[in-house]
Amino acid sequence: MTTTPAYEAVLKGGKYPAKAHAKRVAAYIRDKFPDNGDGAARHAVLYLESRATKLLEDNDEAEPFRQRRPFYYMTGCPLADAYFVYDLATEKSTLFIPPIDPESVIWSGLPVSAEEALAQWDVDEVKYVADVNPFLAARVASSSSAEKGEKKSIVFAMEGQVSDQTTFLEFDDTDFSLLKEAIDECRVVKSAYELALMAKANDVSSAAHRDVLTHVGKVANEQELEGRFVGHCMSKGLRNQAYHSIVASGRAAATLHYVKNDQPMDNKLNLLLDAGAEYNCYAADITRTFPISGKFSVESRAIYDIVLRMQLECISLLKEGVLWDDVHVHAHKVAIDGLHALGIFKGDKQAIFRDRTSVAFFPHGLGHYLGMDTHDTGGHANYADTDTMFRYLRVRGKLPAGSVITVEPGIYFCEFIIRPFLKDPAHSKYIDETVLDKYWDVGGVRIEDNVVITKTGCDNLTTAPKDPDEMLAIINGTN
Ligand code: GLY
Ligand code: MN
Ligand code: MN
Repeated sequence: MTTTPAYEAVLKGGKYPAKAHAKRVAAYIRDKFPDNGDGAARHAVLYLESRATKLLEDNDEAEPFRQRRPFYYMTGCPLADAYFVYDLATEKSTLFIPPIDPESVIWSGLPVSAEEALAQWDVDEVKYVADVNPFLAARVASSSSAEKGEKKSIVFAMEGQVSDQTTFLEFDDTDFSLLKEAIDECRVVKSAYELALMAKANDVSSAAHRDVLTHVGKVANEQELEGRFVGHCMSKGLRNQAYHSIVASGRAAATLHYVKNDQPMDNKLNLLLDAGAEYNCYAADITRTFPISGKFSVESRAIYDIVLRMQLECISLLKEGVLWDDVHVHAHKVAIDGLHALGIFKGDKQAIFRDRTSVAFFPHGLGHYLGMDTHDTGGHANYADTDTMFRYLRVRGKLPAGSVITVEPGIYFCEFIIRPFLKDPAHSKYIDETVLDKYWDVGGVRIEDNVVITKTGCDNLTTAPKDPDEMLAIINGTN
């Protein structure tokens, strides 16, 4: 008997909580605006636009549409060519949608009406886009008269995301930076509804990963596995992938963002599949690595076991307030320990850590926030960090409860990265090249799950198999 997943009840029972999001963003702006309190913030409105429809070059079809994330966060509305205004004084949200164009109805069907929009999305009122300029002007006029003209008015909008027809003529001030900052920061902690969307994206993507495992033995080329993964997600109603899948066989797995996905898989050891669908704009980001033949080599199993230990130990450390930098360090220490036990590293383990030699094998960060974007907002990465161990760590600092983060350690045998370490005496003294030479064909192993940080630990949203024996059983059809 199949049971209905818990996330379905949350999704069926409510709307995307756009008003709660707008309130949080407004509170952030009130708090940060330098002239807050009795100042201009009381006459402030927030203004956002959805993505405009754009035609393909030399063609009469629209480009694939991806909704602007800040707009979706504040409205839950997936429409193109729509606008949104939030009044900080009244806390009222107004959505402006495209009108019915009789000429296009025959081609595209009836668009959403204002009444339908109000019923579907969590906003206070819905108007049509032609109303937006008079509406903004009226907002300024009403707030000025209420305060006898003493207060200044300000509109907060997104840099580069205001169309020509929208004028902010009546406003005393415009600010094109704080709204983005506010939304970016508020997006880090997810509501129960957002977590339900992410649970669904993860559930379907996890099942697609499992489906791929059942298929590995029947196909010859990476592209067939990509087709299997994407097809599975689409058949469950998830039409969009959160990012381009990485389907990398053999040594290609050492290329972190490999995109070819079209190579034959015969005579190669591992397949690294990094793939996740999105559901209503919310992403899954899952990686699994498995032996194509259904049997690990001694070397690839040894590396797999180290990466799995990196991941499981890191997950066990997670809870609200944990410093992500520390968890990343722990992953490096497990990697050093494991590679040392295999004889790839030699010498003093603390010195290997201190001299950052493990970066040659684990060159990226342990993970990133996940949400509407695969690499979600609010992580405060420092790509200029002179410490190579932290340069690509996309989240720095403490993890709040309600944030969703990927835990994706990896060990890679990438000649382009490792050869310079072998030429540098500061690192080469720690690496046994004779032992290393047995591992190049392992390519790369990454295991990536998506977890929700809680007060006492974390909830793992990802259920794709990662236990090595379970994966082998599925590949070999013996499960
Ligand atoms: N799929 C991209 C990443 O894991 O960051
Ligand atoms: Mn990721
Ligand atoms: Mn990934």
